Amino acid sequence: MGWQEKLTQEEMDVVKKNCVTKKINLVLSGIFLFGGLLLVPGVSGATRTNAVSLPPPQITDSVSVMKALSERKSSRNFAVSPISDEQLSKILWAANGINRPGSEGHTTPAAMGVQSVHVYAVTDKGIFLYEPQSHSIRLQNKGDYRMTTTKGQSFVGKAPLTLVYVADSVAWENARRIPTGDQQMIFDSVAAGAMAQNVGLVAAAEGLGTCVRASIDHEAFARAAHLLNSERVIIAQTIGVLP
Ligand SMILES: Cc1cc2nc3c(=O)[nH]c(=O)nc-3n(C[C@H](O)[C@H](O)[C@H](O)COP(=O)(O)O)c2cc1C
Repeated sequence: MGWQEKLTQEEMDVVKKNCVTKKINLVLSGIFLFGGLLLVPGVSGATRTNAVSLPPPQITDSVSVMKALSERKSSRNFAVSPISDEQLSKILWAANGINRPGSEGHTTPAAMGVQSVHVYAVTDKGIFLYEPQSHSIRLQNKGDYRMTTTKGQSFVGKAPLTLVYVADSVAWENARRIPTGDQQMIFDSVAAGAMAQNVGLVAAAEGLGTCVRASIDHEAFARAAHLLNSERVIIAQTIGVLP
C-alpha cells in the first residue's frame, strides 16, 4: 500500500485540527518564548495523529555524485505519471532528512544549526509537511493545490510533485539567535538552495526531471497550506517523470 492510500478518514479529519493548532501555537508564541517545540509546525501532540511514515531512504544506490551532476538540468515537460514511495522518500530525505541520527544532523547545512526552512510536498492528493525526525509527511490540506505553487507554468499541474521550501522566522526566535538585517533572508535562502540542489541531484540519479521555480503564487499557496504570518515561501521545485 502506498503512502497516499495510508491516509485514513481519521487522518483527513485532523487536517482542520492542524490548522487550528498552528494558530494556537502562534498565540502561544507571544506567551511562551521558551516553548520552542510548541511552535514548530506539526510537532505538537494534537497534530501527531495524521503523520504518514515514508519507507526508509535507500542510500546504497550506485549512481555517483559526478554522474548525477553531469545529468542535472531543468526540465519543464513531464509525463502524467506518479513517482514511487521510495523515490518520494529519497527526495525528501535528500531535501532535509536526518543523516546522523545521534546528533540530529541533516543532509543540508543550516546557519547556526537553526532549522528555519520547512519542506512542503504538494501532490494531487494534498499539501504535506515533511517531518525529518520521523521521516514522515503530515497532511496540511486535502486536494490538488499544485497550481497554487506557480504563476501559470502549466507543467506544474502535470508533474506529480512540487516541493515548496518555506522559512519560518519563529525558528530563529525559538533559537534566540535572530540574525540581523538581511542575514535571516540570506540564511534561509541559502538553506533552501542547498535543499533544492540535493533534490536536483537525487532526481538526476533517479532519472527524474526537476525544475527550481521562483514564479509562485505566494498568496494562493500560503492560503492553501495554512501558512502563518511568520512563514515565507522561498522557492519551489517541481519533480516528475520525464516523458
Ligand atoms: C532562483 C531560481 C529561480 C528560478 N525560477 C524559475 C521559474 O520560475 N520557472 C522556471 O521554469 N525556471 C526557473 N528557474 C530555472 C532556470 O531557468 C534554469 O536553472 C536556467 O535556465 C538554467 O538552466 P538549467 O537549470 O537547465 O541549467 C529558476 C532557477 C533559479 C536558480
